[in-house]
Amino acid sequence: MGPYATAYERSLGDPARFWAEAARDIRWRTPPERILDDGAAPYYRWFTGGELNTCENALDRHVEQGRADQPALIYDSPVTGTQRIFTYRELRDETALFAGVLRDLGVERGDRVIIYLPMIPQAVIAMLACARIGAVHSVVFGGFAPRELAVRVDDARPKVVVTASCGMEGGRVIEYKPLLDDALERASHKVGRCVVVQRPQAAATLLRPRDLDWDEAMAEARPADCVPVAATDPLYILYTSGTTGRPKGVVRDNGGHAVALRWSMSNVYDIGPGEVFWAASDVGWVVGHSYIVYAPLLTGCTTVLYEGKPVGTPNAGAFWRVAAEHRVNALFTAPTAIRAIKKEDPEGRLLKPYDLPALRTLFLAGERLDPDTYHWAARVLGRPVIDHWWQTETGWPIAANLRGLEPMTIKAGSPTVAVPGYDVRVLLPDGSVAPPGGEGDIAIRLPLPPGTLPTLWNDDERYVEAYLSQYPGHYLTGDGGSIDEDGYLWVMGRTDDVINVAGHRLSTGAMEEVLCAHPAVAEAAVVGVRDTLKGQVPRGFVVLKSGTEVDEPRLRGELVLAVREQVGPVASFKEVAVVPALPKTRSGKILRGTMRGIADGDDVPTPSTIEDPAVLDRIRPILRPPAAASGYKD
Ligand code: COA
Ligand code: AMP
Repeated sequence: MGPYATAYERSLGDPARFWAEAARDIRWRTPPERILDDGAAPYYRWFTGGELNTCENALDRHVEQGRADQPALIYDSPVTGTQRIFTYRELRDETALFAGVLRDLGVERGDRVIIYLPMIPQAVIAMLACARIGAVHSVVFGGFAPRELAVRVDDARPKVVVTASCGMEGGRVIEYKPLLDDALERASHKVGRCVVVQRPQAAATLLRPRDLDWDEAMAEARPADCVPVAATDPLYILYTSGTTGRPKGVVRDNGGHAVALRWSMSNVYDIGPGEVFWAASDVGWVVGHSYIVYAPLLTGCTTVLYEGKPVGTPNAGAFWRVAAEHRVNALFTAPTAIRAIKKEDPEGRLLKPYDLPALRTLFLAGERLDPDTYHWAARVLGRPVIDHWWQTETGWPIAANLRGLEPMTIKAGSPTVAVPGYDVRVLLPDGSVAPPGGEGDIAIRLPLPPGTLPTLWNDDERYVEAYLSQYPGHYLTGDGGSIDEDGYLWVMGRTDDVINVAGHRLSTGAMEEVLCAHPAVAEAAVVGVRDTLKGQVPRGFVVLKSGTEVDEPRLRGELVLAVREQVGPVASFKEVAVVPALPKTRSGKILRGTMRGIADGDDVPTPSTIEDPAVLDRIRPILRPPAAASGYKD
């Protein structure tokens, strides 16, 4: 057996032993009493009885062990023309000071802090500062609208919110503070204090005494020490889109998270201490949490924080410039970013000035990697391009080509094999395992490995209902697909109402709620249709209340604006059409899958479960993409 097969078998055969070994790479204040605690199954816990501090493992430990002067964080911001390097000592000191600010604001172990910041070093410092004092951070992505932020404030009930005067979107300045003020007004939970980073590009109005200036607060603060917390204590909550408009608060613990992420750096990403890792994502997403902040720092790497886009800041050579300048060893981004680069620079001319001697691998995740994009990236880069599959809930890869353990043959379109710790199965509706190549629901047999979600914030019931109830003893990933005869996984896409727009996970349910709130709309369906750049984009279809006379172009404009204002610009909701009726099953379920297929330009037969086939016939021409539509096939 090769190293992968051996590790995989050990991880499933004796998970406690496997993860106890991995846990040796983490510094514990108190060693765990139990590695895998199944006492309250299906709520499994890892490393119970153990105590540690994640920030100590990410910063202080490296300062003490000879990395004090090594760069920990490289901030590269083409949108502001700024670069700054923080050594491990500097990052530890800034973090300890901000932890002191939070402590002086009354933040204690277990309290929540919402971080609504753009891609600036203060975002990383604020996250680590929370970890340092045992507080629980919840980072909210800047592209969400105030209403979405308010929903998160009400669910997480933070003591403090950390924000900035603005973010930079390409060349535009987006003021964050008015968005936050609006959100806090909408929220029922009252936030005591806000800390605001004043950026030179915009000055925020501070509402004193509630609001504090970051720099002023830091100038007066005293550093705070690391507080040991239980391995099972929450490190953060990250809200992600579910099938309804109410986001799911994915909880991450401290112990399992540190162990799993550290293990993944060596075994999946083939990256060791002292190397440079760059995840070109955003701290507001799980990729940013795991692979901009925690995993590289837990490993003693240098991480790159890039405030810019793959194109337009200033051009499609931006990624190659950053990779060359900072001697990046591994780059991780979403396929969308590569498609954007390919569109502007199809021959890869902007790559030519750089030879990237340090770059070993390009990792892609966040959405399906279409073979076209894979082949293009592999050709222009001349390096392994590694697709891997995971989700906010798991926090680290479920399926990958494990570059550090045993590199495998690449099959374009497949994220390769199940990662040790994950017992991945394709299940059929009756709960049986699909034969090789057979399509079904991708599920993971419990227990999930360390680092994955132990539950949803304040909602154990929803955790069980959403993930564990369909196939008892299994976690439902929400993705459909198959496993071939070589054990390679093929992920075909979500089987629920979640869509993936430019690598951003969004709920069509949330958009439908906004559309339905319009006084002229009786019902609505939003589906994700194929898009050459963003993978998928949402398209809305509304049925008007009977007897309603509307100016259709005006209505469409109002609906597009409503989604932008209430979900956020990140939804990229630009298209909506009026239809006479929505196709439904006899039990009243909207046939979104059928609508999506037709909208993608596929030849979709009328399903046998349809209540009224005439409805589908009537709306087919409206659903169908225009001749010049951008739907792509691979
Ligand atoms: N704050 C405020 N607004 C934001 C934002 C933020 N943090 N992030 C995005 N937005 C806005 C954008 O300005 C844009 O607004 P617009 O409609 O006024 O133009 C909208 O949300 C959509 O943004 P985006 O999805 O980024 O699309 P884009 O057209 O600006 O850029 C890409 C297209 C492909 C370059 C971009 O989507 C990209 O870099 N994708 C990679 C995704 C990624 O890294 N995902 C992380 C998972 S690994
Ligand atoms: P998120 O929680 O935002 O990371 O989104 C997770 C979802 O993105 C998954 O459930 C998949 O639908 C999709 N996804 C992520 N990575 C991949 C991949 N490599 N291949 C196919 N789909 C992916």
